Amino acid sequence: MVTMRDEAWGLLLPLAALVAAIWVACGGARRLHGWAWERRLGAAARGCLPPGDMGWPLVGNMWAFLRAFKSHDPDAFIASFHRRYGHTGIYKAFMFGNPTIMVTAPEICKQILMDDDHFVPGWPKSTNELIGKKSFIAIGVEEHKRLRRLTANPINGYEALNTYLQFIENTVLSSLERWASMGSIEFLTELRRFTFRIIMKIFLCSEDEILMESLESVYTNLNYGMRAMAINFPGFAYHRALKARRTLVAVLQGVLDERKATRTKSFTPTKKDMMDRLMDIEDENGRKLSDEEIIDVLIMYLNAGHESSGHITMWATVFLQENPEIFEQAKLEQEEIQRNMPPTQKGLTMKEIRKMEYLSKVIDETLRIVNISFVSFRQATKDTYINGYSIPMGWKIQVWYRSVNLDPQLYPDPKKFNPSRWNDFIPKAGSFLAFGAGSRLCPGNELAKLEISVFLHHFLLKYQLTRLNPHCQVRYLPHPRPVDNCLAKITRIKDE
Ligand code: HEM
Repeated sequence: MVTMRDEAWGLLLPLAALVAAIWVACGGARRLHGWAWERRLGAAARGCLPPGDMGWPLVGNMWAFLRAFKSHDPDAFIASFHRRYGHTGIYKAFMFGNPTIMVTAPEICKQILMDDDHFVPGWPKSTNELIGKKSFIAIGVEEHKRLRRLTANPINGYEALNTYLQFIENTVLSSLERWASMGSIEFLTELRRFTFRIIMKIFLCSEDEILMESLESVYTNLNYGMRAMAINFPGFAYHRALKARRTLVAVLQGVLDERKATRTKSFTPTKKDMMDRLMDIEDENGRKLSDEEIIDVLIMYLNAGHESSGHITMWATVFLQENPEIFEQAKLEQEEIQRNMPPTQKGLTMKEIRKMEYLSKVIDETLRIVNISFVSFRQATKDTYINGYSIPMGWKIQVWYRSVNLDPQLYPDPKKFNPSRWNDFIPKAGSFLAFGAGSRLCPGNELAKLEISVFLHHFLLKYQLTRLNPHCQVRYLPHPRPVDNCLAKITRIKDE
């Protein structure tokens, strides 16, 4: 007689066999995928690859990466490599369609960032398409050096910062005033507009409000497509981002054409902005930059020059507001700075900025924890060995800034916002990667810190932030941000 138990077994056994077969087939498919890439390597490089797994055919480890970064625990992705393969700090993986070596240990990250002979930028093809094939991340080493030399100092040098300070301060004051009169605002959206206004002034001498607002919202779409799956199909973020790029190219081409027309009327500009500088560059053979080259450099700078600064300003303000003791300490410093300003002096000077020691720690601590550029991409130009592990020629490298900045060995209790940890602490080279390192160190780091300092100075003295949705979830891709862009109210607390 067949019992119920026998019947259940009769059903369960084939099911278990099916699950086991799928399990084996999946493992097989993953191993086969890894093998297919590794077999192309020489025996030496293949034998010394770091531990890791290349994930599924075609998608590699992207599902795991996206799943972690779309959850509230982005660190789960790297943590799973640490758990499975130990803390070697270097792992093989398959990311953005390429075999990749991921590095998370500070020493190894530093070695890669400082070694331009073996490693060049290696951003995913989809990012190059969005930022531009003639932008810094895609041009040759010599051209990069030349354009950087020409563009970095007019942004970040002391003289330049001194010139921009008054415009930055006026923009801070008028923005805060306006927001305080507005009721609820999307704080992040407003801050991105604020930093965009500054970079537009520096690059295009433009204060055209309508152009600015519309261009900034185009940039939002460009950014949302970055680090998304490169699916160029209506409805997908990457498709919208490509469309945004086409709009930016068309607008900037229009500005460039206008500039050329003004010049042919033999009008020499009295004030030179970055567009003028780029138009004037000639190489040793007298070749000027093409329109495409100028536009790509502009698209890159206008993006890099406002996106991260806007986010970090938001996070620094939020962290201050969430930590009343730190807020008070930062405020006391700014009050003292204000008290000591000569009564005839109108506005801040670089002298006051230099005195903002505690505020500078608040900003560094924010940069460390929130880590806007959480990973950077390189590509190996030669077979290279680090700590006995091979990095094969042509493979991509992901340098995990986030892992370095949140390394508990370097920063105990790493997720705790504690500006005082920077007291008498100067991090060793490569152990604080807020702005990258080496020849690709951010050329706007001083400008960014200046903007944030001026903003926080006035915010601390007179304003208060109330988040209207304080438990709003954080979305980590492409940049860590509250899902509602930090819906908040700015209140003026003190009248002059
Ligand atoms: C808080 C604000 C900022 C943060 C956190 C930040 C972060 C970074 C990082 C980490 C890199 C290096 C990427 C790599 O290693 O490949 C970088 C590069 C870059 N940043 Fe920034 N940045 C900020 C503000 C700015 C500003 C204000 C500008 C422009 C005025 C700017 C322009 C650039 C450019 C053009 C590059 C590419 C450099 C190159 O490849 O030579 N950034 N930034």
